[in-house]
Amino acid sequence: MKRLVVISNRVQQLNQGPGGNQGGLAVALLAALKERGGVWFGWSGSTVPEFTGEIAYEHEGPTTTAVIDLEPQDIDEYYNGFANRTLWPLFHYRVDLTEFERDFEGGYARVNHRFADTVAPLIEEEDLVWVHDYHLVPLGGELRRRGVANRLGFFLHIPWPPTDLLVSLPSHRRLVEALFAYDVVGFQTADWLENFRHYVTTQLDGTVGEDGLVTVGDRTIRAIPAPIGIETAEFEAAAQTQAAAFARDRMYMSATGRSLIVGVDRLDYSKGLPERFAGYERFLAQHPDRRGLVYMLQIAPPSREKVDTYQEIRAALDGLSGRINGEYADIDWTPLRYVNKGYPRPELAGVYRAARVGLVTPLRDGMNLVAKEFVAAQDPRDPGVLILSRFAGAAAQMTDAVLVNPYSADEMSEAILRALTMPREERIRRWESLIDCVRREDVHWWCDLFLDALEDADVAAV
Ligand code: G6P
Repeated sequence: MKRLVVISNRVQQLNQGPGGNQGGLAVALLAALKERGGVWFGWSGSTVPEFTGEIAYEHEGPTTTAVIDLEPQDIDEYYNGFANRTLWPLFHYRVDLTEFERDFEGGYARVNHRFADTVAPLIEEEDLVWVHDYHLVPLGGELRRRGVANRLGFFLHIPWPPTDLLVSLPSHRRLVEALFAYDVVGFQTADWLENFRHYVTTQLDGTVGEDGLVTVGDRTIRAIPAPIGIETAEFEAAAQTQAAAFARDRMYMSATGRSLIVGVDRLDYSKGLPERFAGYERFLAQHPDRRGLVYMLQIAPPSREKVDTYQEIRAALDGLSGRINGEYADIDWTPLRYVNKGYPRPELAGVYRAARVGLVTPLRDGMNLVAKEFVAAQDPRDPGVLILSRFAGAAAQMTDAVLVNPYSADEMSEAILRALTMPREERIRRWESLIDCVRREDVHWWCDLFLDALEDADVAAV
């Protein structure tokens, strides 16, 4: 098996253990590396006054992490700038929140150079190199320019937007052309891949051939759908631990006889939290008989706090949660518990297991691994019900969830009632179908799917 070099902006540091609020990407990549061994390179999460390119290493078994510090200006222009003020909103269909600043692009290019300069010497001849996510689209080209002739793969964890939206980015052409330095480019779903193909054929005069081959000029890449999974076996085991049982009992004891509706998301506008709160509020308004019999727990660890749109969503949610509790709470009942911190994964597994309903209702999401974790944590004899947004990538695989339009408070209210009153046989039937997919298409399956395609690819000419 070939050694893997994984490159992503965010690296899960080995000695941190399974933290509470890292995105699904970090968890999935650690799983991939544990299996194959290799190096995981990225940003340390810290800054230094002046970039040095000095690498800090950590080792655990066959896995090494290698991280670099960046300058404050890099973080402003690259991480808080082009990545999270431009690409993230645009790729989540939020042109209204997208900022188009040339300075951001300069910072994005600079950090991609810096990544390439630092990581290129770590790459050995036979390594498979796998670059991840929207922060690092140009990295493949930068590595090629430094003579890296290895097989290069790129995986996009977020949606790929429709062409009409993407062309609002002044540098859209440069960004997409940069993907043609890779050998294999992966997307979470067939829909995002279709959007990519549409762009390539309409804007770059490209052609789409058999077997996922996409050609622009003299470059041909393989573009494939590869839906990411979770470490299902490990998560199912986590749901059986003492920490999970303790968290579950804590939930039961704090609300005896009440049904728990749970949501767990990074505090991000793409996750549809105000709409979710509004759906729950509608449910409380329409079903007075259910008040006091249910409660909702929303766990939402803050994220990207320097970016104003994230500050705004946080303030909006503070207001909404206060309003819902002010309107509906009773002396012995809080309808909405809203918590701004992360929890370790075994505790989350216990919370999911205690829940009658899981609400995963992003407005747009590349995949959404919480949906899969919720399913993996359930008690097979008495499983909870997953309510899932049609606009999450996960909906393409998890068709036996209760699928909703997250923009519609009425639909959400109906779905909550349906989930709370669903007969046990139907819950079991749906859950068995869902867990089957979550087990079969787990993170190891995803990793093999992508890396097999990469190993089979013809090596690009440098
Ligand atoms: C999403 C992105 C990841 C990112 C994660 C956490 O899952 O696809 O690339 O790492 O969010 O966001 P952060 O900005 O904290 O890395």
